[in-house]
Order: sequence, then C-alpha cells, then structure tokens
Amino acid sequence: MIRFERVTYSYPQTKRPALRDVQLQIDEGSWVAVLGANGAGKSTFCAAVAGFIPHHFRGELYGRVLVNRTDTAATPLSELVTQVGFVFQNPLNQFSGAKLTVAEEAAFGLENLGVPREAMIRRVEAALEWMGLQTVADRSPYALSGGEQQRLALACILVLEPRILVLDEPTSQLDSAGTREVYDSLRSLLASRHLTVILVEHKTEWIAQYADRVLVLNEGAVVLDGSPREVLAHADLSRLGVNPTRYTIAARAARDLGIWPSDRGLPVALEEAVEGFRLLQEPEGIRP
Ligand SMILES: Nc1ncnc2c1ncn2[C@@H]1O[C@H](COP(=O)(O)OP(=O)(O)OP(=O)(O)O)[C@@H](O)[C@H]1O
Ligand SMILES: [Mg+2]
Repeated sequence: MIRFERVTYSYPQTKRPALRDVQLQIDEGSWVAVLGANGAGKSTFCAAVAGFIPHHFRGELYGRVLVNRTDTAATPLSELVTQVGFVFQNPLNQFSGAKLTVAEEAAFGLENLGVPREAMIRRVEAALEWMGLQTVADRSPYALSGGEQQRLALACILVLEPRILVLDEPTSQLDSAGTREVYDSLRSLLASRHLTVILVEHKTEWIAQYADRVLVLNEGAVVLDGSPREVLAHADLSRLGVNPTRYTIAARAARDLGIWPSDRGLPVALEEAVEGFRLLQEPEGIRP
C-alpha cells in the first residue's frame, strides 16, 4: 500500500511546488495511470513514490509518503529499491554503463543484492523472456532499438521482483504491438504476483483498457481521481492537457449533433462506442 499524506514538494532553488498537497492511498494489486500536461508533476510523483524524493532530490518536502506503512524518508534507498521498482522516462538513464551485454545489464541489480548465481540466471532469463528480449541477450544494451531499450529497462527492474512498479512513460518508443506485449506481460504479473503498477502514459486508449484507476495532475495537484470511465470522459480533460480517447471524441461530437443516445454516458473504449452508435434506432435526427 502507498499513502501520500498531504505531500507538498519543491525542487531546490524553485519557488513553485512540483507537488501540491497530494493526499491519496493506492491499494495493493491496483493499476493506477497518471496523466497530466507536460510539467504537471507526473515524474515528480513517481520519484516521490520510489523514494528518490527526498533521498536523491533534495529541496523542500512537507507531509509524508508511506510505502507499506513505513515513511520513505526514513527508509534507505537501498532498501526501498527492493520494494519499489522505478523505470525511468529515458531508458538510457536506467543502464549502468558498465555492462557489455543485455543479459549482464539485466543481472546488474541482482549482483548488488548478492543473489546466488543460479537464482540470478533463472530470474534474468525469465525477465528477458517476459520482455521478449531472449534473442538479443548477447548484444550491447546500446546497440538496441529505442523500443528494445525500453523493454530492457523494464526487465532490469522486473528481475528485482519488487511488489510495486513505477513506470514513467515506459512505452513511448514502442509501436502498438510492442505496447500491447508489455502491457499484457504487466497484467499477467499483476495477477500472478499481486503487483501494484503506477504508470505514466499519454496514450489514453491504452489506459482505458488496462488501468483500474486514473489520476490527473495539474500544476502538481491531483485534480481528477477515479475510474478510467469517470476520468477519461470528464469534460475538463482536454483543458488539463490530456487527450481524450478517439472513442470519447467521436461520441462527444455525435452528442453535440444530437445523435448519441441521451441516456448513455460517453464511451472511453471502442466496444462501448460501437454499442452506443448501434443503439441509435432511426437516422432521422442525423443532420448532414
Ligand atoms: N530536477 C529538477 N529541478 C528543478 N525543477 C524540476 C526538476 N524536475 C522537474 N522540475 C520541475 O517540476 C515540475 C514538474 O515536472 P515533472 O518532470 O514532474 O513533470 P511531468 O508531468 O513529468 O512532465 P513531462 O510530461 O514533460 O514528463 C516542472 O515545473 C519542472 O520544470
Ligand atoms: Mg515526466
């Protein structure tokens, strides 16, 4: 469980807080998507969950972040990394720079934890397989495509078997087939290991399909918090710098023309959109 107790945080030498009075609880086993415009505080929120704030980033922190009931400020990062895995926005920031192959890079975190060799090999193989990287295990991490590097960054964290995964735009360089593979792997891990996933993602169509809960940040404050349907079809979404799904956009345009069933909310997924349009009995109301 993760708990933010009235958290306000400002980076060093800045006046405006990057997080403002954030108060929320995230239950174990949930998949929470974090949205917001550029600079809204999404990466800062992730860094606070992972304990990088206040251990790595100084600045001014008010309030407390609790992970599994302990205050992250009072827990050393070396201990937090085994509980919370943080996949950075840029995968190159994740790599050690000291390893020659993908497999060695994936093993790096385990070496630091002193895991026995047999177990290490098993865990590395499993993580590379989840991320579809078996065939490039012997290549240099720096010779991979952007999408492969993102999957390796995820594998480097998965080998550590944290209970909480914090993923900052982990699929920004993947095409939709790659994104689906990563999300399906995460979903099955979430089910089999009861992981908690906190995910920053701009592609709202994906969030509608995978997340249980959506947070929208604006200037460091949580301004929307609810189910994907509540948040992604919210009238304020665009104003907050977040693109609604194409299904919501299409249905909203239809509603403005009076051709969306009046008793139905706006859809966030394809099936619901199709269903809504199918319910339209007569084409009479349709204006050219
Ligand atoms: N290391 C830093 N030092 C000072 N200010 C920072 C630092 N990192 C971020 N900020 C500021 O904090 C605010 C929140 O930034 P953050 O990176 O969390 O936003 P974001 O929502 O992740 O944006 P993006 O969509 O661009 O990734 C911004 O005003 C940003 O300029
Ligand atoms: Mg960011």
